[in-house]
Amino acid sequence: DQALRRGATGVLLGNWTGASTVPSRTLYPHQWSWDSAFVAIGLRHLSVRRAQRELESLFAAQWADGRVPHIVFNPAVPEDAYFPGPGFWRSSRAGHPAGAPPAPETSGIVQPPVHALAAWLVHRADPDRSRRRGFLARLYPRLTAWHDYLLTRRDLGGGGLAAVVHPWEPGTDNSPCWDRALARVEPAPPDAFRRADLAHGRAADRPTDLDYGRYVRLAADYREAGYDDRRAAHGFALEDPCFNALLIAGEHALAATARALGRDGTPHTARADALTRHLVTRLWDADAGLFRARDLRTDTLVPERAVTGLVPLIVPHLPAGVAAALRATLTGPGFRAPATGLVPSYDLTGPAFDPQRYWRGPAWFNTAWLIQRGLRTHRLDTDAERLRRAVLTEAGRTAFAEYVDPVTGTPRGARHFSWTAALALDLLC
Ligand code: DGY
Repeated sequence: DQALRRGATGVLLGNWTGASTVPSRTLYPHQWSWDSAFVAIGLRHLSVRRAQRELESLFAAQWADGRVPHIVFNPAVPEDAYFPGPGFWRSSRAGHPAGAPPAPETSGIVQPPVHALAAWLVHRADPDRSRRRGFLARLYPRLTAWHDYLLTRRDLGGGGLAAVVHPWEPGTDNSPCWDRALARVEPAPPDAFRRADLAHGRAADRPTDLDYGRYVRLAADYREAGYDDRRAAHGFALEDPCFNALLIAGEHALAATARALGRDGTPHTARADALTRHLVTRLWDADAGLFRARDLRTDTLVPERAVTGLVPLIVPHLPAGVAAALRATLTGPGFRAPATGLVPSYDLTGPAFDPQRYWRGPAWFNTAWLIQRGLRTHRLDTDAERLRRAVLTEAGRTAFAEYVDPVTGTPRGARHFSWTAALALDLLC
């Protein structure tokens, strides 16, 4: 464990830029939203001050409408180091009504709301220091505005859940869950853009060119609508169970935050309870034993079974039987990866399973961390401990890989990946 701690620390120090942490020096050379939240959760064990900075620098780029952009661009990094860069998103020119800040340049879409939970955990690491710096007091209104944005502008289905409008928003870019919805999107022509990811990642580990054509089309359409959710056509609109489960966990964290600030936490608890009801009503599939994404363009549940349908284990007050059913799915043939003990991103027995390609099968460390936290929430401590050990073993063995082939244990994607190191560190402490 000492070697693992040293290794994880080395990754986080190496990927620190002075105000935030890059997910990977090669593949992702800017600041990413949900990466920063996971990083802060680990960084708090090394430096509470840095963990605070990580979240504060992200929220400094928050838009006037409350959205937290999925990428905050580092102006010192050349435009061609990452696609799509600031020249594509043109956020500083988006202006009213979405209200992007004049600087820094950011993307215009969002990522899962892990931030309120992260802020609360960073506070808990050193409550006195947090109070002295006014950390929660400064972040609380920003976190609330962020959740307000999701619960109002993004309730595109009118059912009380937040929708994602681009496959980059749930963070699981090329998951088979998005295939059907993406098939309706006319891809941008291949010569209209130039990918930068293939200079650093193996093509077989990454989304395809056709995927990218569709990602570009959706992002460009949103940009042309001024990133205004009332004006945008949103050809892609789904309710993702992982995204909404994190929003619920975030509302519970905001309730605790409000109380720590001497305020009333009950509005947040009420929101968490309402969201939990909507999550179960709209996305729970008792026959499948997991939550599914809802496609708002067809108003149907997506048939694919993915790890994102298991993450709602982190929701504390689930109806009777749901946590037990999720545990049964987790330990069944679809999601028990024998070689690694991690959780594959997609059903091992599913028709689209691919052990290498990004979110179409590989096991990721952030979802494992969330699920082990959820198992503990529901007092399934033996399962949680088994998963915790698997995360530590695999993180160390793979030099903190971005993701892992769940069948063979072969590391895939980037190495020295920040959230893998951060979350391993958190599970060591
Ligand atoms: C990427 O570039 O692969 C990211 O997942 C998009 O944010």
